[in-house]
Amino acid sequence: MPVSEADRQKWNQRYTAGAYADRTHASAFLVEQLDRQSLLPAAGCWALDLACGAGRNSVFLAEQGFRVDAVDISDVGLARGLTLAQQCGVEGNITWHCRDLQSPQDLDFAHHGSYGLILMVRFVAGHLLPHLIDALTPGGVLLVEEHLQWPDGELDLSGPSSGRFRLRPGELRRGFTGADAHEVLFDEEGLYTEPDGSTAALCRMVVRAAG
Ligand SMILES: C[S@@+](CC[C@H](N)C(=O)[O-])C[C@H]1O[C@@H](n2cnc3c(N)ncnc32)[C@H](O)[C@@H]1O
Repeated sequence: MPVSEADRQKWNQRYTAGAYADRTHASAFLVEQLDRQSLLPAAGCWALDLACGAGRNSVFLAEQGFRVDAVDISDVGLARGLTLAQQCGVEGNITWHCRDLQSPQDLDFAHHGSYGLILMVRFVAGHLLPHLIDALTPGGVLLVEEHLQWPDGELDLSGPSSGRFRLRPGELRRGFTGADAHEVLFDEEGLYTEPDGSTAALCRMVVRAAG
């Protein structure tokens, strides 16, 4: 079975079993960054939510007036996203795309080159970063948040237990090497308290495409 098909089945099983059912709130990092007026792309512009899962961030962006392309490999996650969007009355502002982001032919996004905002939250695909800068409209913003490897093994961290799904310190920053011209607006690594009170080690960046 191809790796991505195995991933699709794994994530479908997780979502069917109720994974993240209580995580309908948007990413705290996204909310915080959109609150900073200088970073706010114009409402009404296109946003791309990569590995959108059950749609919490896509729905939040639609509620803020964005038109959203939401992409994930899990059709079960996407169906949950659609239900959440309907409950929130924003289903008309989100298009759901079942795509494999590890597959080059699936990276031809519907509004490539026109996105005012792109999100990649808690999905590790550092090799995509230069392509994502390219997918932004001039001046558009890319926001990335990933779990981070943390040296203190005693800490009980939320997120993946396997280091394979965590970035090494500095790795996110290095992923932008070779990307088209961009400005780093935010770059931070550290420990954060999650809404459920658990602790997460995260790296977070916001970059703006030249233009
Ligand atoms: C930890 S969840 C994060 C979901 C969402 N970004 C959020 O913050 O709520 C990771 C997501 O990556 C998706 N995923 C895994 N492999 C993928 C692939 N090859 N292509 C697209 N999505 C993938 C999974 O289906 C899952 O929804």
